[in-house]
Amino acid sequence: MSLELAAADTRENFIAEAVRRIDACGVRSQQEQGRFSASLSGGNTPKDVNRLWAGRSALDWKSVVLLFGDERCVPPGHPDSNFGMTEQTLLRNLPERPTVHRMHGENPDPENAALDYEKVIRTSLGSEGRLDLAILGLGPDGHTASLFPGAEILSETKKLCGATPAPDGKMQRLTLTVPVLKKARQIIVLAAGADKAEVVNRIVNGPLMERELPAQLFIRDHSLKVTLLLDGASAARL
Ligand code: 6PG
Repeated sequence: MSLELAAADTRENFIAEAVRRIDACGVRSQQEQGRFSASLSGGNTPKDVNRLWAGRSALDWKSVVLLFGDERCVPPGHPDSNFGMTEQTLLRNLPERPTVHRMHGENPDPENAALDYEKVIRTSLGSEGRLDLAILGLGPDGHTASLFPGAEILSETKKLCGATPAPDGKMQRLTLTVPVLKKARQIIVLAAGADKAEVVNRIVNGPLMERELPAQLFIRDHSLKVTLLLDGASAARL
């Protein structure tokens, strides 16, 4: 396998290309194995991608299983909830509702919520917990999902989901761990905007420093099938 670096010139074309690639992966999975499972990203980048995807998909949504790459430890109706964002931008606009497994960020015991989600992963994806697609974002500090620089969870080799503090100390997060993300058949990392240009260059061309730049765990692992999708602004320093 290898890294595919793709860059759309404008943000609008980035969004269209993201939808094209994500949906094509799903259609291929449904054709080849009769189902499609994906983990969704949180943050702002996926919002416009989700809105376009909802109206421009060739998927049979009844046989789609959606999980989350991470979640903030807040209730689903909280403005910071990744599930809430996904409900507003994707799920409520779909012609049919897929199977959706949200992480229970409202659980006052995040470790317990992570254990519960591990059971959901194994039940919905099989004991291996293998996703067809992991959709990931990229933070300016090099984090992806809620795998933040220097976090203990970066070294987790057994669990499929874990609780971890967000660097701002504001709230706990739930996140898929490195093993389950590395097991995905395909990974698409979405990174748009000038604020990502410097970290994109460090991740792609800089020295390997996976604890400082966790997204390198996937983008620089050439045994994985990874696409790093950029726009002109985030590709500007390459
Ligand atoms: C989250 C995401 C996180 C996000 C990056 C990029 O819950 O916030 O999982 O990893 O993808 O922080 O966020 P933006 O798309 O807002 O730049």
